[in-house]
Amino acid sequence: MFTKVAARSFSSSASSAYKVAVLGANGGIGQPLSLLLKLNHKVTDLALYDLKGAPGVAADVSHIPTNSTVSGYDPEGLEQALTGSDIIVIPAGVPRKPGMTRDDLFNTNASIVRDLAKAAADYAPDAAVCVISNPVNSTVPIVAEVLKSKGTYNPKKLFGVTTLDVLRASRFVSEVAGSNPVHEKVTVVGGHSGITIVPLLSQTEHKSLDQETRDALIHRIQFGGDEVVQAKNGAGSATLSMAQAGARFTGAVLDGLAGERDIVEPSFVDSPLFKSEGVEFFSSKVTLGQDGVSTVHPLGGLSDHEESLVKEAKDTLIKNIQKGVDFVKQNP
Ligand code: NAD
Ligand code: LMR
Repeated sequence: MFTKVAARSFSSSASSAYKVAVLGANGGIGQPLSLLLKLNHKVTDLALYDLKGAPGVAADVSHIPTNSTVSGYDPEGLEQALTGSDIIVIPAGVPRKPGMTRDDLFNTNASIVRDLAKAAADYAPDAAVCVISNPVNSTVPIVAEVLKSKGTYNPKKLFGVTTLDVLRASRFVSEVAGSNPVHEKVTVVGGHSGITIVPLLSQTEHKSLDQETRDALIHRIQFGGDEVVQAKNGAGSATLSMAQAGARFTGAVLDGLAGERDIVEPSFVDSPLFKSEGVEFFSSKVTLGQDGVSTVHPLGGLSDHEESLVKEAKDTLIKNIQKGVDFVKQNP
């Protein structure tokens, strides 16, 4: 706490100093994500927590000369790690091995995320929570149910991080189009697994791809995670690209909290878009503001093909979301 107060007192305005906690900071994602967050000048207090090893990661990144204090915490320090956090990023949990789906991680990761959500509710009830741990389609509802049970749920401040799908879409589209990926902006909606990932190519300049090329591109975006899992051959899933995605999304949430305007990223949030059809959470573009989500944007115009992809995604999402809700009901 002292470090945060000290940092704020030296900043020109209170809205340029933020505490970010990374839960699972010693992992394949956690380490590079911590590095990238150390490079974000809005972060003045970086709290790194893991079951083991976080103090070492903290000592390492703390030598980078940016204006933030870095602290590492083992389990007995969870309260201290979380207290005063503006954003909590959660990459804690096990990754896939070849042959597994993200849903196969549910049994292990559901309880990890549930317990961290309980701690978040107890020690940082106002923090924005960014969930990376898979299966995101279920872990986000798990966090929501826990926070509801604790009376601290703020739907504007809970995010499933789907940014890696957006990064992949930019990259893979550029490979097909021969364009610069930096300039390829693709909106990806739905959820974060297989067919629930729906890139809206009709909203890009590449709406006239032949059907075979289009379908192959969509499939690659939907199953890009498998490429990495297979290439790592048992050593885990995407970590470095995910760290970049997580840092970009956390940076966008920070920009919104700081009052910057027109900060828009897709994210899997408590969404009004398809609630009437029973889909409580859905990823679409959201505008990020000082209180978290300020606007959940509609999907915009879709091709007939995209309409059918979104429909399929919704059917699967309803089941994935219910699985998370049921887990918390049965295992409070
Ligand atoms: P990893 O095994 O390398 O690291 C996970 C870390 O979490 C480990 O350091 C472990 O000690 C820690 N951990 C486990 N239980 C914990 C707990 N209760 N409290 C604190 N820390 C705990 O795995 P990884 O490659 O970093 O992946 C982490 C998760 O992120 C996986 O579930 C993976 O599927 C998911 N992931 C999501 C996306 C996405 O786009 N949202 C992308 C890649 C990976
Ligand atoms: C990804 O999309 O790379 C992650 O969700 C990890 C995985 O299991 O594929």
